[in-house]
Amino acid sequence: MTVPESVGGLTETLRQGGYLADRGLATALFVALSLNRPILLEGEVGVGKTDVAKVVASVFARKLIRLQCYEGIDTNQALYEWDYARQMLHIRALSEHQVTDSEAVDKLFGPKFLLERPLLAAVRAGAAAVLLIDEIDRADDEFEAFLLEVLSDFQISIPEIGTVKAESPPLVVLTSNRTRELHDALKRRCLYHWIGYPAAEREVEIVLIREPGVPAVLARKVVAAVQRLRELDLAKPPGVAETIDWARTLAFLGESDLDVRNAQDTLGAVVKDRDDLEVVRDNLAEITSGAR
Ligand SMILES: Nc1ncnc2c1ncn2[C@@H]1O[C@H](COP(=O)(O)OP(=O)(O)OP(=O)(O)O)[C@@H](O)[C@H]1O
Ligand SMILES: [Mg+2]
Repeated sequence: MTVPESVGGLTETLRQGGYLADRGLATALFVALSLNRPILLEGEVGVGKTDVAKVVASVFARKLIRLQCYEGIDTNQALYEWDYARQMLHIRALSEHQVTDSEAVDKLFGPKFLLERPLLAAVRAGAAAVLLIDEIDRADDEFEAFLLEVLSDFQISIPEIGTVKAESPPLVVLTSNRTRELHDALKRRCLYHWIGYPAAEREVEIVLIREPGVPAVLARKVVAAVQRLRELDLAKPPGVAETIDWARTLAFLGESDLDVRNAQDTLGAVVKDRDDLEVVRDNLAEITSGAR
């Protein structure tokens, strides 16, 4: 499917894929897709940063290539590696005469023994892919600098094989939970969008689109309660993921409304910190008192 010609069109396409983007996010994505710019999504935990990349890939039938960042991730894990085990097996199978033959040795560093990692895969796939660089804030500074280089020209040179270049770049979606500040250089290269918590009305819609089996009344009550929870000073305020989980849990138990009792029984779906649980339990009557 080709990219729609308007922000409204893109919003509708994403909705069909089960994702409700507000005007700001849809506009940022529209520009990123149309102008081939990477997009950096920051936001609270569980507000749909990762999911939007998955949905874009799915609605446009592009391949989703995910680079999950973590502390200590290095360039090999992101670009390519040599298949050491296979190389060893191959060497063993060579005759004594062949081992000294430089051509046979060169072959050991040929395409057959190259293990493609996400960035190489994305450069090769080009516009047929969505490259999700997830939780970039977890990687360290050097890795970020290296990424910047790859993002600037979508070109990877492998000394033993040659240079691989994307004819047209993939859509690149970077996400960050802001556990640390990213470098200005990286930010400058990207379009930036902050995903906040959705307004109540939209959050109800998200619950219903994700969990069509949830009664509308229940969805509204759960959303109202979650929005109240976010106003408390919790260590881990619930994201949209928790709202969906809570509604799904209650619906699964056959509940059609939210009250102190069933909220108490199912709090584990939405509050996942011991100290938070205490605060929430003390205020449960007020929290579940319904949509305001
Ligand atoms: N606008 C939305 N439309 C549809 N579903 C949404 C929306 N926002 C969030 N969700 C749902 O919320 C859940 C959490 O989303 P996701 O994992 O993308 O969050 P995240 O921001 O990447 O969280 P984390 O910071 O924990 O990685 C997913 O199941 C997703 O489907
Ligand atoms: Mg995520």
